[in-house]
Amino acid sequence: MAAELRSAEWYSGDDRNAYIHRAWMRRGLPGSAFTGRPHIAIANTASDLTPCNAHLGELASSVRDGIHEAGGIALNLPVVSLGETQLRPTAMLWRNMAAMATEEMLRGNPVDGVVLLGGCDKTIPALLMAAASVDLPAAVVPGGPMLTGTFRGRPLGCGTDVWRLSEEVRGGTLDREDFARSESAMIRSRGHCNTMGTASTMAIMAEALGTVLPGLAGTPAPDSRLLESAHETGRLVTDLVARDRRPSTVLSRASFHNAIVALAATGGSTNAVVHLLAIAGRLGIELTLDDFDRIGSRVPLLVNLQPAGKYLMEDFHRAGGLLPVLREVRDLLDPTALTITGKPLTDHLDGARSWDSDVIHRRSEPVQAEAGIAVLRGNLAPDGAIIKPAAASPHLLRHRGRAVVFDSIEDFHARIDDPDLDVDADSVLVLRGCGPKGYPGMPEVSNMPLPSKLLAEGVRDMVRVCDGRMSGTAYGTVVLHVAPEAAAGGPLALVRTGDPVVLDAAARRIDLDVPESELRARTPNRATLDGFASPRRGWERLYVDHVGQADTGADLDFLRGSSGSKVSRESH
Ligand code: FES
Ligand code: MG
Repeated sequence: MAAELRSAEWYSGDDRNAYIHRAWMRRGLPGSAFTGRPHIAIANTASDLTPCNAHLGELASSVRDGIHEAGGIALNLPVVSLGETQLRPTAMLWRNMAAMATEEMLRGNPVDGVVLLGGCDKTIPALLMAAASVDLPAAVVPGGPMLTGTFRGRPLGCGTDVWRLSEEVRGGTLDREDFARSESAMIRSRGHCNTMGTASTMAIMAEALGTVLPGLAGTPAPDSRLLESAHETGRLVTDLVARDRRPSTVLSRASFHNAIVALAATGGSTNAVVHLLAIAGRLGIELTLDDFDRIGSRVPLLVNLQPAGKYLMEDFHRAGGLLPVLREVRDLLDPTALTITGKPLTDHLDGARSWDSDVIHRRSEPVQAEAGIAVLRGNLAPDGAIIKPAAASPHLLRHRGRAVVFDSIEDFHARIDDPDLDVDADSVLVLRGCGPKGYPGMPEVSNMPLPSKLLAEGVRDMVRVCDGRMSGTAYGTVVLHVAPEAAAGGPLALVRTGDPVVLDAAARRIDLDVPESELRARTPNRATLDGFASPRRGWERLYVDHVGQADTGADLDFLRGSSGSKVSRESH
């Protein structure tokens, strides 16, 4: 038994090296720890600077109890943590770094399996990318959303209501004192954002992929049942090790098919597109941007959650969570996709039911008949761009307007509220220099605030086009992830203020109505191409030199694929 475990390559035998590996671990571990018991890392993204994940230490103790109960050895492994609200210029700049560091630490250490503790936006994607590339038995425990906070009797959705309230301040319908007062009401408890933003979405994606105990994703962070599930996951991972059930044997193209259906049915974040593409890239699974449109865009939206709808994650959990949603669209799922339980995902749907049909709708009465992500192409986005029709204004989904171009977010902020800015409700706001290379890091700035003079007139949405991302908690008619980005030489760099831009979401088009000959004659604005994107050293240098475009997941070229868990050389 001992020789079959990966950790036994470190610990078994009576030579000097095995002595060294064992002896230093004797700080706390008994001799029996090295006699064939699986060593399970708890990759923990807890950090005071990632407030959404600050509570994961408690979750880790429940995982630890479960691992011990099943005869394993639990080992806390703090890993790079990314706090969405704190990190500048954007947490996304380090998603790939967090994934790389976690992958390397799992490979370099004597562990047989891993429990992945994440929550805030980029943490679960980074952990899954790492687990896929090191290919050790792994399960995710999502840290869970916050409880619903209320302000003056009204529930506040994290993120979504920040955008809404700040627009009200700019539009003059909310004063600054009340705005400040709402701050402490929004974050009511431990946990991540309570809207169907990126964190909730990625927890649900992890479950739909089969890497989470079915039924767990969406359990609120303070809920006792989360601790119970964490305990159960600890047990389960020791079993995954015994059965040698690895990401490469659990995850398949069918898993991603199901994740895309779940993304559409729950109205999940557009950020899931880049994250799922990146995870698939680590597994060598052929997944393209067009798969999101092909598989997802006919799926009905069944979940009535902010930012597209009304409720919050606590309501979603109360109504039954992901499984009853998937049960409604069971015929659209691929029944061959497995989960870490060893059973197909669809086998876990039988007993699932919705306890509140206003939160989780029946298939016969969907929130929207067709949801998901629309993938647009055209001379503005030859490699694709996306829009989330469910979060857009229906009357703007087919639109022609004059471009108002901004070369950076700083340029945008400097001019957007200028009363002399030549902009009206029909204009199309174009922001560039916000892609993976251009910012760098592809920040969530695409949902540009509207000009205050138009807000004062009552305008609440405009067509916006950008090579960046938008927060999963945001809404609006926003064309994002334009590829190639301006800084990589995409045609977005050629747009000039006044050019007619044509959006036709139904036809899946985003075009600049300027003759090709004229476009060819234009030279891109150097400010756009150079921008901030010439870092001299460090991670940013490595990132800008190697990052791919949004349509392939914005991973680094040399991180795609897997290296497995084998380490051939000793350390001494
Ligand atoms: Fe962490 Fe929203 S800021 S999940
Ligand atoms: Mg975010």
